[in-house]
Amino acid sequence: MKNQRLIIEGGNALSGEIKVQGAKNSSLPIIAASLMCKGETVLKNCPCLTDTYASCRILTHLGCECRFDGNTLTVKADGLDKNEIPDELMREMRSSIIYMGALLGRCGRCSLSFPGGCELGPRPIDMHLNAMKKMGAKVNDEYGTIECVSEHGLKGRKITLKYPSVGTTENIILAAAKAKGETTIINAAREPEIVDLAAFINKCGGKIKGAGNSTVVIEGVSELYGCTHYIMPDRIAAATYISAVAATNGEINIHGIDASLCDSFMCVFEQMGCNIYVYDGCIYVNAKKPLKSVGKIITLPHPGFPTDAQAIIMSALCKAKGVSIFEETIFESRYRHVDSLVKMGADIKVIGKAAIINGVKKLYGAKVAATDLRGGAAMVVAGLGAEGITEIKDIEHIDRGYENIEKVITSLGGKITRT
Ligand code: EPU
Repeated sequence: MKNQRLIIEGGNALSGEIKVQGAKNSSLPIIAASLMCKGETVLKNCPCLTDTYASCRILTHLGCECRFDGNTLTVKADGLDKNEIPDELMREMRSSIIYMGALLGRCGRCSLSFPGGCELGPRPIDMHLNAMKKMGAKVNDEYGTIECVSEHGLKGRKITLKYPSVGTTENIILAAAKAKGETTIINAAREPEIVDLAAFINKCGGKIKGAGNSTVVIEGVSELYGCTHYIMPDRIAAATYISAVAATNGEINIHGIDASLCDSFMCVFEQMGCNIYVYDGCIYVNAKKPLKSVGKIITLPHPGFPTDAQAIIMSALCKAKGVSIFEETIFESRYRHVDSLVKMGADIKVIGKAAIINGVKKLYGAKVAATDLRGGAAMVVAGLGAEGITEIKDIEHIDRGYENIEKVITSLGGKITRT
């Protein structure tokens, strides 16, 4: 909700156990995929977030039934009777572009506006549009509306991506799941959330091979049938809570997460001096020793270091002894949280794609804003590790991706309230 704020009293070491929420970036494409299924789809471990609620509003507008009961989302898509999504619903969520593939797969046509804003810099959709064209859709994207039609259904094709874009890979998988023939994606994104999407579609009767690799092969089927699916754990939420523990020199036991999902960033916490133990679906992190700097980290497509963890881990590194450097290669404008960290006493210089962090002894609470989802989470991490009170405004960005962040932090002994 607009105008809410998070107030954090920093300086308490976080300690305790949590079960990490379901993954936002897996639930969003899976909710979109559910509109292609006959019968009932039941998504367990579905995070209650403003982005998942926005997805439900899109489905409801299209004529589907959606019901959240705790973390179980039930979708019945048999009543779908529209194929256009109005501008105000498209703008609620940046990932709404994946409805293009899902609607083309289900109805053979769709009419959408361009997805919302550009908080991380330009976010073009050229690769999405080119892929749909290649599969035989006629695409008209004049005057702010994207009209796509494939009168006789989409056709399987070989599509080579110039860059392993997550959203484009998902859109092609959605569109190809019910297309005629075989689609091969070359240079596909390899993120674990894509593996979860493919696992869901396969359970519904789809035929997708190779998800998680650079080449994904999708054999189109004529029907998909709803199933019950458990959404994978959110690795970026896990990174956020581990960063908060590192920033406060605490300890945490995270349940319900396969540690291999976190390989791309756990090595950074290890370099920072955290002790990490992995056992039976749990990750234990002890960050009681003073943090050390980590040298250079480059954000890369999976399995490289994830851009979504950059801001969050930067907050913890602000107090790590020595110099750490980030190089952000995925999004043009993903250092908008830096000004707020500097306001809190951090020593950070941004030069082009690089952010150079010179560890300081202390951060101090300040009035700051959540500039975007992960930038907002970075403010929470910094506030917990700072001396005094931090007040974060514009927290609707945080609510897009974190289920009840203040409840989780409070359960770990952190002092945080929402006003
Ligand atoms: N790109 C293009 N043309 C396209 C599509 C993408 O040039 O048609 C560029 C983008 O501008 C960007 C790069 O390719 O520079 C990567 O974009 P990608 O398509 O991989 O990202 P996305 O699908 O828009 C998803 C996540 C993001 C995450 C990125 C990268 C979801 C809903 N979003 O976005 O998550 O940062 O992949 O891993 O899955 C977040 O959760 O905070 C978040 C922003």
